Amino acid sequence: MQQLEINIGAAQAETYKIWVGSGLISKVPEFFDLSSYSRVAVLSDHNVAPHWGATLVEALSHRAELIVIPAGEEAKNITTVELVWRRLLEAGCDRKSLVLNLGGGVVGDLGGFAAASYMRGVDFVQIPTTLLSQVDASVGGKLGINSAGVKNLAGVFRQPRGVIIDTDTLSTLPKRELLSGLAEVLKHGLIRDADYFTQVCGLGEAVFEPKNLEQIILRSCQIKAEVVQADELEGGLRKILNFGHSIGHAIEILSHARLPAEHLLHGEAVSLGMLAEAKLSELAGFISAADLDHIRAGLQGCGLPVTLKQRFALEDLLAKLKLDKKNVGGVLKWTLLRALGEAVFDVEILPELVEQSLREEFA
Ligand SMILES: NC(=O)c1ccc[n+]([C@@H]2O[C@H](COP(=O)([O-])OP(=O)(O)OC[C@H]3O[C@@H](n4cnc5c(N)ncnc54)[C@H](O)[C@@H]3O)[C@@H](O)[C@H]2O)c1
Ligand SMILES: [Zn+2]
Repeated sequence: MQQLEINIGAAQAETYKIWVGSGLISKVPEFFDLSSYSRVAVLSDHNVAPHWGATLVEALSHRAELIVIPAGEEAKNITTVELVWRRLLEAGCDRKSLVLNLGGGVVGDLGGFAAASYMRGVDFVQIPTTLLSQVDASVGGKLGINSAGVKNLAGVFRQPRGVIIDTDTLSTLPKRELLSGLAEVLKHGLIRDADYFTQVCGLGEAVFEPKNLEQIILRSCQIKAEVVQADELEGGLRKILNFGHSIGHAIEILSHARLPAEHLLHGEAVSLGMLAEAKLSELAGFISAADLDHIRAGLQGCGLPVTLKQRFALEDLLAKLKLDKKNVGGVLKWTLLRALGEAVFDVEILPELVEQSLREEFA
């Protein structure tokens, strides 16, 4: 087991730990003084609970209430939050209760939000079970739900009491979800540590061996934590974490307008977004053509998509990026790569250059 300490908040007032290792769910009571809580609730979803819910509830000597919500992004809404509040109330949870969020980013974001608002806020712990939530969503204290058709419309910043990453949970995660999480790992390398990017890509299939995953999760949490610690409330530096996400998000949304079989997972869209934004970095005069090739080969070698299988009309992509003709003079600010392992944010780029990068990369 390895651990990382996070110091965050005004004058680094809040401190908590991230533990990474195998078999940690069974050891949860060793990490916290549970006797200081009046009641413990475990929140999970319909996919995760059958695999890992009993292990956690047993570890807590069956003294925890298990609350199971529907799986998936569609459930990340206020109706589910109300359901969680009601179940917490029925279980006798008061202000001195603890909520353990066992699941992917949806359970973490929603469960954290429900806990942060229940009786004006109770403690919560993140126990992320997807690679994406282990290296991204569970670190940084962003919580929230979707509303009015807008992703993460309602939310708060609030740090957990701790993050427990049990690498065993990845054994039940579908391979495609695992790979999707790897896109965020590669992003961490591209924006902060070029050697890390190259090392992870060099592992090939061995990347999914538990001992390698443990190291990768730790390093990625470290990178995300460094960035978040420097900029808890997203004033500046934290924007480098958005690398690949402007174009990636547009591609993700467009894919979701297609038949379900064509929907891209977040990390798959981010892989394409990183490539297009790396191309933009090249066109902007930052990275070399050889760097771009290195990035493309790395993503592809890991099994992430580097070509747009679905043909989206370039106009649709540009419109999603708000770079269409109607948005006159709309110069967007971009997070780009100044070099491999170094990102810059708030770079103003002319729409024509964005169009060129998309055309050249995906035509
Ligand atoms: N708070 C943040 O900083 C932050 C950062 C990135 C993403 N997010 C949010 O995270 C969410 C995406 O997270 P995600 O990709 O983990 O999605 P998710 O929670 O929907 O999990 C993906 C799927 O895998 C299933 N699953 C999870 N763990 C499993 C396991 N161990 N075994 C079997 N099945 C398992 C889930 O039930 C779900 O069907 C989005 O809502 C996004 O907005 C938040
Ligand atoms: Zn992402």
